[in-house]
Amino acid sequence: MKALLAMPEGLPGRMFDAAQLARLAELVDIGSGHPVPDLAAASDQELADVEMLVTGWGAPRVDAAALARMPRLRAIVHTAGTVRFVVSEAVWEQGDIVVTSSTEANAVPVAEFALAHILLAGKRSLARQARYRADHAVHPGAAADPGLGNYGGVVGLIGASRIGALVAEHLRRFDLEVLITDPFASAEQITALGGQKVEPEELYARSDVVSLHAPDVPSTRGMVSRRLLALMRDGTTFVNTARPALVDLDALREELVSGRLAAVLDVHDDLADDDPLWRLATVSITPHIAGSQGNELHRMGEHALEEVRRLAAGDPPRFPVDPARRGMEA
Ligand SMILES: NC(=O)c1ccc[n+]([C@@H]2O[C@H](COP(=O)([O-])OP(=O)(O)OC[C@H]3O[C@@H](n4cnc5c(N)ncnc54)[C@H](O)[C@@H]3O)[C@@H](O)[C@H]2O)c1
Repeated sequence: MKALLAMPEGLPGRMFDAAQLARLAELVDIGSGHPVPDLAAASDQELADVEMLVTGWGAPRVDAAALARMPRLRAIVHTAGTVRFVVSEAVWEQGDIVVTSSTEANAVPVAEFALAHILLAGKRSLARQARYRADHAVHPGAAADPGLGNYGGVVGLIGASRIGALVAEHLRRFDLEVLITDPFASAEQITALGGQKVEPEELYARSDVVSLHAPDVPSTRGMVSRRLLALMRDGTTFVNTARPALVDLDALREELVSGRLAAVLDVHDDLADDDPLWRLATVSITPHIAGSQGNELHRMGEHALEEVRRLAAGDPPRFPVDPARRGMEA
């Protein structure tokens, strides 16, 4: 099976380690193994026999013009998360091209990151660090607060999504109550994850930590509203490893500046240099690091390799992107 690495220069060596690249070359014919960053600039000879594209971040969009030059194309194996920037409507319309992604593999480090911060938030780690830095004093009284700690605390997850479900599964091993709000997941599905299905209002009002795991689609933009944030109890923490557009940032900023809430913010639209969020000790602010980084890219590469193996053997892929859900995926 002839495959083309349609991705920017240098990316194959980041997504796959040397052993994985060698296995890829055993499974399919990748020619020289040199990536093709621009399909429009590729020669007819390079494209004519291609049956599979292995794509990644910054890969060229597979549009109608590119499709017309690859009449034998049957599969697009994306080594990263969302395929919306790579797979055009023309691919879906053609109907006979299997598209798979490594979104499941990318969910793993995001869920790990969220879990770590949820547990630290249960200890009110950010607020207590901030106070200690400010006065260098131990406050024994603070430790007596019954709302503090990870024994019987309440964690609210917005979205029984891939990542939300993984976080819920991780949380099973702790002595915490898990509330989940998701209009698309049934109470049975949420119970199976170890959570309890609730309406957003109950989740915000009862949780010690609210962690956001919904996709960025038109219906979710601004869903973390001023009204819902106001329901969170004093001293509780909001965690965003999802997308910035889902949150009313002005409302959240006010709650954080007042010191009423703490937050863990991994995703941002451009924040001005003088945004107070940069300076708040009760806000953990990271540059979009929850998703795959460093060696975690090889987990996505491994998922893609397994898809290549299956497709080359004529087997169905494990993680096909459902055409009916395009645009709904995160
Ligand atoms: N920080 C990072 O590095 C990073 C990495 C990967 C993904 N993400 C983000 O994490 C979030 C979750 O990703 P995913 O792959 O788990 O998403 P996903 O594609 O699995 O999400 C779809 C699911 O979200 C749920 N959902 C939809 N609308 C909802 C609503 N209004 N309220 C609650 N739930 C709703 C539904 O269960 C739906 O099936 C996304 O915003 C994604 O962009 C961030």
